[in-house]
This record gives sequence, C-alpha cells and structure tokens, in this order.
Amino acid sequence: MSAFIEAASPHTMNTYGRLPIALSHGQGCRVWDINGKEYLDALAGIAVNTLGHNHPEFAPALQDQIGKMIHSCNYFHVPNQEILATKLVALSGMTNVFFCNSGLEANEAAIKLARKFGHDKGITHPKIVVYEKAFHGRSIATLSATANVKLQQGFGPMLEGFVRVPLNDIEALKNAAANDPDVVAVFFETIQGEGGINPTRADYLRDVRALCDQQDWLLMIDEVQCGIGRTGKWFAHQWSGVQPDVMPLAKGLGSGVPIGAVVAGPKAANIFQTGNHGTTFGGNPLAMRAGVETIRIMEEDSLLENAHRLGLYFKAAFEREFKDMAAVKDIRGQGLMIGIELDRPCGPLMGQALEAGLLLSITADSVIRLLPPLTMTETEADEVVVILVPLVKAFLNTPKA
Ligand SMILES: Cc1ncc(COP(=O)(O)O)c(C=O)c1O
Repeated sequence: MSAFIEAASPHTMNTYGRLPIALSHGQGCRVWDINGKEYLDALAGIAVNTLGHNHPEFAPALQDQIGKMIHSCNYFHVPNQEILATKLVALSGMTNVFFCNSGLEANEAAIKLARKFGHDKGITHPKIVVYEKAFHGRSIATLSATANVKLQQGFGPMLEGFVRVPLNDIEALKNAAANDPDVVAVFFETIQGEGGINPTRADYLRDVRALCDQQDWLLMIDEVQCGIGRTGKWFAHQWSGVQPDVMPLAKGLGSGVPIGAVVAGPKAANIFQTGNHGTTFGGNPLAMRAGVETIRIMEEDSLLENAHRLGLYFKAAFEREFKDMAAVKDIRGQGLMIGIELDRPCGPLMGQALEAGLLLSITADSVIRLLPPLTMTETEADEVVVILVPLVKAFLNTPKA
C-alpha cells in the first residue's frame, strides 16, 4: 500500500469500504494505478465508462465543450438538451425527457411522476409496486423503493407508499396490487444489477405491461445499470418488445460524466408542469455533450453489436470452463452485464482479481459481476477469462469459511 493511500482517508467520510489502490489514468479497457500497475477493466466504473477510457473521439469532444461552456442554467434553453432528448426519444420510441445528474435522481423523478399521476386522478395516497432484491438508489425515497434492509438500517422511517412483490411472479403482483385502488405504478429493473444480475423474464414484462394498461398504472423501468447498449439493445426491456411509460437512465449515458435522465412516453410526458420539478446542474451543456457523443460513437462503432456478440462469447467461455463445477450455480445476464453465481459468499475474489490485474465486482454476496466497457475486444475478453477462471477455481477449492 502506498504512502498516499495510507494517508488519504482522514477527511473523506467513511462511506466506502475501499480496496487499497488508487487509479490514475486509463486507455481503452486498461487502467493504471498511481504506482504504475496495469489492470484490465471489466467493471467500467460500475457500468459507467461505456466507451472505455480516453476514447480518441470522446475526450477531444469534451475538451471542445469545456472550451465553449460547461454550465449555463435551466432559466434558458440548452440546445444540447434538445439534441440529446431527440436522440433518446428516437432510440426508445418514447416522447419526452427530463435531465438530472445521477441514477437516484432519475428514479426520484420517476417516483414523483408516479405520485403526481395518482394525485391528478384524485388518489391522495398513491402507492408504487416495487420488487424484492431491487436497488434504486440511496436518497430516502429511492432507498425506500430499494429492497435491501441492511442499506435502510439507521435511516428510518422509510417512506410509505411502496408495495413489494417478488420478481417474475405475475400472480403475486395481481394479488398484491390489482385490488388496491391506491396503486398507480409498477417499478422495476429489467435486469437487477445490485440484487445479483437477476433478469426480468420477457413474458413477465409483457404480462405486467398488459396489467398496467388494464389497471391504468404507469409501467416504470429502471434502466440505470442495464440500459444504454449494455445488453446489446439500447434499453434492456427492448428484448421483450415492451415499452415502458417511464424509464430512468444514468450511468453509461455520459460515459463517465455524471448524468441522469427520465424518459417518458405519452402517458407520463405531461404529468410534470412548469415548476413541478427541477435541478441546478441537470442537463448542463457538458453532460449533454457527453451523452450526445457517447451515443454517436456507440452507433458509429457498432457497440451494441459488440456488446451482444461479446456477451455470448463470455458466456460460452465461462460455461465451458465451469461446466463440471457444481459450486458455480449459474451464469446469467445479457450482453456485457454478466453474473456468475457461486454457492457461497465470494467477496474476497474482488481483491484477488485486483491483485491479478483485473477489475470486477462482487454483488449480492455471491455473484461475480462483469460490466466491462462496451469497447472491449475479443482478445481482451480472452484475457479476462484467463485471469478470472483460475482465481474462481482456486477460491472454490479452498475450504468454505
Ligand atoms: C438500477 C439502479 N438504479 C439506480 C441506481 C442509483 O444510481 P446512482 O448511484 O447514480 O445514484 C443504481 C446504482 O447502482 C442502479 O444500479
């Protein structure tokens, strides 16, 4: 551990259990720490660095924007907002966008939209259906929508107005909500990220869409982690052919520049009226330029196709390598959002991978999560497999703690 890291912590709050490295720079899917050690990046800053690091077109575009204007103000029109909104509308088939700065902010806006949708219909105590193992953020409202009680501990009381059901069980949803006149929306991730890479089944998504139409509920799909091309479609729910009414986005949309967005379809696009919602930084020219350039480069470089193809490649490799290992319970996910579930907690694997020069994360205690930049090549994918597989095998060969 370097002297810098030993000395680095006294003044930042103790909110993160940090590993003992500090990254200084990156190029493509490789990053270096302040001591010069190189790592292969299969984490992308938790699904953020869509274009990898120091992309040859992205970095100069941001420099150009910084030279022109970083922040203006929502008192005025922001042309880059219109450009990015037009693009998101075209890609999603939805109609209007509100811009903010992060995933929780996008989800907070979605929750406000749902509540106002209810109030506009005369429902004074609107309820939103949320899911077991869901993660939507750490503000009080989004934490209340999140399932993990450990994260909620010490911050009660949680907000009322949420009904929780298991994923992929349409009868449970009907039983919990269909006879409750206060329910106004159903809210879930297409693939739960923090909850352990748990995909929502396509037939379930279609059933929920039909139920929302029948009951006049909003279908709100959190694509903060699984959206923006990561699964091989622009938005993960598009694999099912279903369209939501509200779709929060963040993470990969700015390829590293903080950004959030709520995309709304016709049923939700006119709920907010002037003065109902806002943010100082949201939609600033720099973040908007980052979003526009991210999408432009993704299209030019066919990164959706790359994510899809490489996802299949990774899965085939892991299935081959782990096929005789009962302790590897499941290999799941889609595109470059991959989870390998072990039969035991595997937190230490993150540090072991780091030692071996690979960035990844462990989620839901026992799931190895890979979220590489969408620019990753097949050769780099091979390297990830070559580093990770022996680590997992060695980990599983040590006696269970
Ligand atoms: C699905 C989902 N929603 C919301 C969030 C919260 O986003 P942020 O950390 O930008 O507030 C996350 C973060 O991991 C997420 O995965």
